[in-house]
Amino acid sequence: MKIVAFGASNSSRSINKKFAVFTTSFFLGADVSVLDLNDYELPIYSSDREKEFGIPDKAILFCDQLQSADLLIISLAEHNGSYTAAFKNIFDWVSRHNGKCFENKNLFLLSTSPGQRGGKGVMDTALVRFPIHGAEILEYFSLPKFGENFNAELGIIEEELKESFHTKVRKIKSHYGMEDH
Ligand SMILES: Cc1cc2nc3c(=O)[nH]c(=O)nc-3n(C[C@H](O)[C@H](O)[C@H](O)COP(=O)(O)O)c2cc1C
Repeated sequence: MKIVAFGASNSSRSINKKFAVFTTSFFLGADVSVLDLNDYELPIYSSDREKEFGIPDKAILFCDQLQSADLLIISLAEHNGSYTAAFKNIFDWVSRHNGKCFENKNLFLLSTSPGQRGGKGVMDTALVRFPIHGAEILEYFSLPKFGENFNAELGIIEEELKESFHTKVRKIKSHYGMEDH
């Protein structure tokens, strides 16, 4: 089973990257590939650029990575209630290459932020939008107040959130016939 995971942020200290990587640790035995949006930095999408230069190779490579996954674990960072510019830009380019970039792809969709809502705004946007691009969202989870509720060694430390998250992980593992450890 191949998992492709990333935080939808270009911050080198991205809490969403941390959360996505942490989530992969539950899928023992899976072949895990973690992407960093900084490796796929692209000029800001414009129809003029597309006409003149076509779709950049990095957008095609990113799309190929999405396509290679049996499970995508994406943790969405929220900027002003929506996607970060870095993610929106790559999403725009990829969608011009392949409008069904998530076709037949199962997603565990996450978000986290330092705030009380844990990125629920961007989560709501993605829950509506990603299926239009073919995504099958198996489960989704927003972790509020990352700094208080997450610990690098212990994971999620608030009991109710931890239980809710673990239930979702278990459901996804059982979808793939994986044993719970
Ligand atoms: C321009 C900007 C806008 C932001 N807007 C929001 C927001 O709407 N909601 C929120 O919960 N956090 C917001 N934040 C705080 C981010 O959630 C925080 O920076 C978080 O660390 C981003 O995730 P990342 O570390 O994975 O990049 C914003 C931060 C910036 C820099």
